[in-house]
Amino acid sequence: MAITDTAVVEKVKANEENLVLQVKDLHTSFFTDSGEVQAVNGVSFNLGKGKILGVVGESGSGKSVTAYSIMQILAETGRVVGGEILYKGENILKYDKKQMDDFRGDKCSIIFQDPMTSLNPTFTIGWQLREALRLHTKYKTKQAANERSIELLKMVGVNEPEARIKQYPFELSGGMRQRVMIAMALACEPDILIADEPTTALDVTIQAQILELMKDLQKQLGMAIILVTHDLGVIASMCDEIIVMYGGRVCERGTADDIFYRPCHEYTKGLLRSIPNVSNMKEKLIPIGGTPINMLAMPKGCAFCPRCDNALKICLTEKPDEMEMPDGHYAACWLNVKKAYEEEAAGNERGTRVHEEVNA
Ligand SMILES: Nc1ncnc2c1ncn2[C@@H]1O[C@H](COP(=O)(O)OP(=O)(O)OP(=O)(O)O)[C@@H](O)[C@H]1O
Ligand SMILES: [Mg+2]
Repeated sequence: MAITDTAVVEKVKANEENLVLQVKDLHTSFFTDSGEVQAVNGVSFNLGKGKILGVVGESGSGKSVTAYSIMQILAETGRVVGGEILYKGENILKYDKKQMDDFRGDKCSIIFQDPMTSLNPTFTIGWQLREALRLHTKYKTKQAANERSIELLKMVGVNEPEARIKQYPFELSGGMRQRVMIAMALACEPDILIADEPTTALDVTIQAQILELMKDLQKQLGMAIILVTHDLGVIASMCDEIIVMYGGRVCERGTADDIFYRPCHEYTKGLLRSIPNVSNMKEKLIPIGGTPINMLAMPKGCAFCPRCDNALKICLTEKPDEMEMPDGHYAACWLNVKKAYEEEAAGNERGTRVHEEVNA
């Protein structure tokens, strides 16, 4: 099949399946003086139009690098070394500079943990919003952009927007700055909003308000959201799907119910034991033992193996592939394969099916 045919097929497929973003076997590395840091090692996921995808995992698991790879805003030493990122079926890794600028300006926005990363301290809030609007939307005149800026600030719950637009970022509280940053990200009415730890720096009440606001906006505007966090609790109530990352890979993905009530990866189980939830509220919280892996020297087998209490011999030498637990719930853990073998031996039909899939 010619290249163009493949591109057309991908577009049609994305359209039929209502997918706004597909990340396929993404590999991103940093080339440092100490060697290649393989920060993302084969991450795949789909994002449906208007859906919320949660990305969870401890510090250093590759969440931000995945987000920055999508936005193509990696540090100078960083490079996507493999895989595809499809926006509505189009591989954005093949985009030229102009197309990528359009993608970042119109199709996909990102908000960061620290609003000051996005806001320029030397310009007023109003100036910055008007610039974003004039560059990327139909609000080209100063008056139209001004009116829209006020509308956007109202939408994200900023009080006295007419006065706020004349203020500088340092004059606002942390929560207000975060709201302004969300308004900036929404200015271009993106199809995808990536929120990288948008509330970690805020106190708990404001955190809840901002998350609620994002949920409302997502419903109102129909955009898809990728919500990156290290806090499983935060995303439980918000996400249509959750991916759990460890060592630059997706170790488990499924609905919130799959992840919270039927976790199938030892790392996810560890994460759940380490946060307070309904089932363990009377028990002691147990942190996951050991230290996160050294990305400069990735283990040959499962990245979580050195910290896993139930590791098998095979975990040391071979990386587990994703395996479908029932119904769109996936986990990459050899223990599930072992369980399938055992279930098969006990005459369980599902065990046989999974066994056959694993050996296919
Ligand atoms: N500019 C860089 N140069 C070298 N290594 C990097 C660079 N940026 C990130 N990394 C490495 O990539 C890995 C993944 O980092 P990433 O920032 O994606 O983690 P994260 O999951 O977002 O963590 P956190 O929860 O702390 O934000 C880490 O091991 C990190 O050290
Ligand atoms: Mg991060």
